[in-house]
Amino acid sequence: MPLNLVFATNNDHKLREAREILGNHCHILSLKEIGCTEDLPETSSTLEDNALQKARQVAEKFGCDCFADDTGLEVEALGGAPGVNSARYASSNGAGDSHDSDANMRLLLHSLQGAATRKARFRTAIALIRGGRETILEGVVNGHITETPAGIDGFGYDPIFQPEESQLTFAQMSADEKNAISHRGRALRALLRHIEDTDKQQ
Ligand code: IMP
Repeated sequence: MPLNLVFATNNDHKLREAREILGNHCHILSLKEIGCTEDLPETSSTLEDNALQKARQVAEKFGCDCFADDTGLEVEALGGAPGVNSARYASSNGAGDSHDSDANMRLLLHSLQGAATRKARFRTAIALIRGGRETILEGVVNGHITETPAGIDGFGYDPIFQPEESQLTFAQMSADEKNAISHRGRALRALLRHIEDTDKQQ
């Protein structure tokens, strides 16, 4: 019997990626599929706590095994910003609407003018609640912020993030190329390894 696991998201892209990576081991359900229509707030100051906050809300209300994720772009010259504020970077600095990717990228490129380093990393935290037990998994991809945007695929900061492993930005890669090295892909594979290890011990 595969493990039933709710992914606390309604993002179709994330669901597809999770099902591709975990599908042999788990039956992944979306929030919609369990009838969860409420907002899941992310009001904490770390990625880990935001992921836990969402996973706990779903696990407690629906009594299910569940995981949730949160991602941030951490830029060395900016002391790790925008980090947990990545989605709201421009709006929280009065420079655009929340989730406005173009405004977020413009502000980031502006903030890095003259910076000594353009090193950056994407980091995803996943909080798993299984049988009432909480575990945090992580996925990281190191790279740098390019001088100008390149590529049209992907979302968010993809056009200005170039991972160490490639000469291309995330927005110039196919979904498969990106998923093979991305923060979220790595965090999901860490989650799979954790579930497999736990099951072996039982
Ligand atoms: P979330 O936690 O996955 O919703 O990510 C928060 C924010 O980080 C998003 O709104 C994007 O701005 C940014 N982000 C997360 N993952 C990616 C990615 O794979 N590429 C580019 N930007 C991302």
